Formats: sequence, structure tokens, C-alpha cells
Amino acid sequence: MFRILTMSEVIFHQTEASTQQEEKRRLCRSERKRLRHEKLLADKREQRKRRKLERKQRLREGTDSNKKEVDKRLSKRDLKQLVKERCAEALISGQRICIDCGLDDFMSEKEKGKLAQQIGRLYGSNRKAEKPAHIYLTGLKKEGQLYKHCIRKNEGFQNYSIEITDRSYINLFKPDEMVYLSPDSTNILTEVSHDHVYIIGGLVDESVTKNITQSQADAQGIRTARLPIEEYMEKTDNGTFSKILAVNQVFDVLITYKATNDWRQALGAGIPKRKGFVPKELVKL
Ligand SMILES: C[S@@+](CC[C@H](N)C(=O)[O-])C[C@H]1O[C@@H](n2cnc3c(N)ncnc32)[C@H](O)[C@@H]1O
Repeated sequence: MFRILTMSEVIFHQTEASTQQEEKRRLCRSERKRLRHEKLLADKREQRKRRKLERKQRLREGTDSNKKEVDKRLSKRDLKQLVKERCAEALISGQRICIDCGLDDFMSEKEKGKLAQQIGRLYGSNRKAEKPAHIYLTGLKKEGQLYKHCIRKNEGFQNYSIEITDRSYINLFKPDEMVYLSPDSTNILTEVSHDHVYIIGGLVDESVTKNITQSQADAQGIRTARLPIEEYMEKTDNGTFSKILAVNQVFDVLITYKATNDWRQALGAGIPKRKGFVPKELVKL
């Protein structure tokens, strides 16, 4: 049945139709706006990703001299990832430095605690190093006190990128590739060579017992060497002038030498100021 609409009904239907059309147009417009916004966000995301990859690439290709500068520009997360990669790489091709942790019978409980702290410090130095070393902790027994101190004093110790073994260095390396560092040696260390593994005595001997490592290495037929402190450093007016360095300080000397090939710089980096040594002027060398 048809009914003729009144004028007001006609106007009502027309208004309703145009409102619906307007609504549709508005939806289309907001939909377009939403799509445009999403595209903009996706583009920005893509740009950020590309810039990040480019930055990483630049760092990988970068020379050691621009490392610090590039490190500064990296985000914390990227830097952490990079340090992880460098340390993993060091376990394959880094300079081998071994801490002989089989000397705990010569130390008091307090000294073992200090050695654990020094191990934590040298690990920290290694993470920051331009050329991280391949670190070995040998003769470290998991049931021993030193291991317990290491865990207690160093957060994340069990995940350190280093090699830990209860075996002695003597069973790990060839006799002619080992150089045991000892302050009592009569040989002077002249280089830090990739062909050699440098052994640092895991000792904190506050009473300064001489010759512990020298006699051990002699008995094992391993060559020894002392750091060239007298050769490249001179005394200032004040200081303890002790040439016996802590384990982490010797480690710092070795890795700095590895990065710079310069004994004055390396010794300057490892020897604390209170010892009273400064690099000899070049003319005096
Ligand atoms: C605190 S020292 C212990 C010294 C201890 N009296 C000894 O017989 O080795 C810890 C270790 O750092 C290394 N070291 C310290 N000063 C050194 C130096 N001037 N030259 C070579 N190695 C040194 C040695 O490997 C040493 O065993």
C-alpha cells in the first residue's frame, strides 16, 4: 500500500539521507587520516631501524682510533650488545691472559676476598678494552673459598665471558708459549705477543712473600718475566715505589700495551699514582 508523504516527511527523509552521506564522508576522511598517520609512523620506524643498522655497520668497519667516539654515540642497549660481541670474539682470538688461581694456600681468607674483587675489576677493564683479552682463570675449584668469594663479590660472575677451569695452566698450554709474570724475575718483558699466554699469579700477599711465583715457574720449567717498570718509569718525590702490582693492575698494563704498543702509556695506566712513578721522559730512554 502506498501513501503519499507529507511535505515535512519528505524533508525529514532528505535531511536523514544527507546526514548519512556526510557521516560517510567524515568516516572516509578520518580513515584516510588514520592510514596517513600509520604510514608516517611506519616510515619513521623504518628510518630509525636503518640508521641503527648503519651506525652498527660504521662501528664494525671503524678503526680503533674512532672506537671511543663511536661508542659514545651508541645507545646503551647497542653498546651492551657490542661489548658482548667483542668479548665473545676475544674468547676466540683475543690475547691470552691467564690468572693462576691455584695459589690460594698462600692466602688468608681476607686476601682471597680481595683477589675476588681484583678479578671483578680486571673483568670490568676487559669489557671496556679496545682489544679485550681472552681471560682464563685456572686452578679455580668450584668448591673452594676463592670461587665462593668471586660469586659473592662479583654480580653475574657465573656468566662472565671468561674461561674458568679447575685444571692448572700447566695442563692447558704448551711449555714454550707460557710466560709467567713475576716481579722477582730477572728477565724483562719487552712485548706482549699473540703467540704467548701470560700468566699472572692469583696472589694478594699483603705480607709480600717474595719469589712465590718465580720459584713455582722455575720448578715447572716455565720462563718468567717482570714488567719493565725501571726501564720506562722514574720516581717522583713521594710514593711507596713498590714495583709489585695487584693482579688487576698487571692486567691493565698488559691490555693497554696490547692496544697502544707503548710501555710508558701501559705502565702509566696500570700503576696507581700513590706508588710515585711517572713515565720517563723520552730523552732519558
Ligand atoms: C701481588 S703480586 C704477588 C707477588 C708475589 N710475591 C709473587 O711471588 O708473585 C700478584 C701477581 O702480579 C704479577 N706481578 C705483580 N707485579 C709484577 C711485576 N712488577 N712484574 C711482573 N709481574 C708482576 C705477578 O704475576 C704476581 O704473581
